[in-house]
Amino acid sequence: MPLIQIPQPWQLPERSITPESAFVNRRRFLKSLVGASIGASALALGGCRQPLSDDDIDADLRKTLGQPLRSQANLDFVEAEPPITPQVYASTYNNFYEFGSTKGIWPQAQKLPTDDWKVEVSGLVKNPRTYDLDDLRQQFPLEERVYRFRCVEAWAMVIPWIGFPMRLILEAAAPTPAAKFVRFTSFYDSQLTSGPAWPPSAYMPWPYTESLTVPEMANDLAFFAVGVYGRTLPKQHGAPIRMVVPWKYGFKGAKSVVKIEFVKEQPATFWHTLSPNEYGLVSNVNPEISHPRWSQKTERILGQGTNPFDWEKQETLLYNGYGEYVAELYA
Ligand code: MTE
Repeated sequence: MPLIQIPQPWQLPERSITPESAFVNRRRFLKSLVGASIGASALALGGCRQPLSDDDIDADLRKTLGQPLRSQANLDFVEAEPPITPQVYASTYNNFYEFGSTKGIWPQAQKLPTDDWKVEVSGLVKNPRTYDLDDLRQQFPLEERVYRFRCVEAWAMVIPWIGFPMRLILEAAAPTPAAKFVRFTSFYDSQLTSGPAWPPSAYMPWPYTESLTVPEMANDLAFFAVGVYGRTLPKQHGAPIRMVVPWKYGFKGAKSVVKIEFVKEQPATFWHTLSPNEYGLVSNVNPEISHPRWSQKTERILGQGTNPFDWEKQETLLYNGYGEYVAELYA
């Protein structure tokens, strides 16, 4: 339970909802971008691209990419609609409360120290291990996944992540039968990640934690990203390694993960501790379950209008459109 009832600053302001009259046809807009010289910055930064080709991947990541980049196993996951969100928008409109509660935290997030990163895998497992980034890249071949991304605040994007399925870490760890849940912990250092001025950081249950069940983590869609748009993950996206769980609301994907613990009981998590009625422990994307303060029936796609912060509205899909792969987890 939260220590105090805090006004929720992540509530979407009315002004972010694009009026019906401002909507443009997405495909018409994209065609116009291709033909027009305006896109220079957005396109150069990755706007409107189809899934990445091997040439798009930077040399550092390419060294450890699985061959081929898009294996048969992940073909299903690279065809998300609508087209990929231009990188310039995805990388400047972020939630990373360790660095503040506005969407424009990308300059502050550059303070995140990512050298000598370690990820501890522990708890109820046969093979506890602490990985550094080289270990992770050598052991788990990288692949690309283009996933829809749906924030609980009802904005959405389509992002080309690079990383590896979470189940590979799970298989290497070999959880014991007693392990039922997994707790993921983000980097936290009160000197560097001072949190937002409002709500007061002192009342937030740092470090940021999230959880999955063991079968959720074992699902092939659950992913650890170390790159995005063909580059090493930028700090504001949760460098050097963050969770991507595309059928759940975005807050279930902890950034800058330092610890993965297999545990017996459902662990407490950051947002659920702050506001349990608003941020459930399961939090699968579901148009029929409203957030207490707004409907989840529709979502606003970032960067699909005539300027970066125009939004196009579309229907929310159950499990964010991934029911075919995950519904059986909840049968
Ligand atoms: N992880 C940490 N450590 N701190 C955060 O504040 N915000 C979550 C999630 N993971 C958050 C986090 C929320 S609310 C969302 S919507 C996504 O990160 C946003 O990811 P993005 O900024 O890369 O789009």
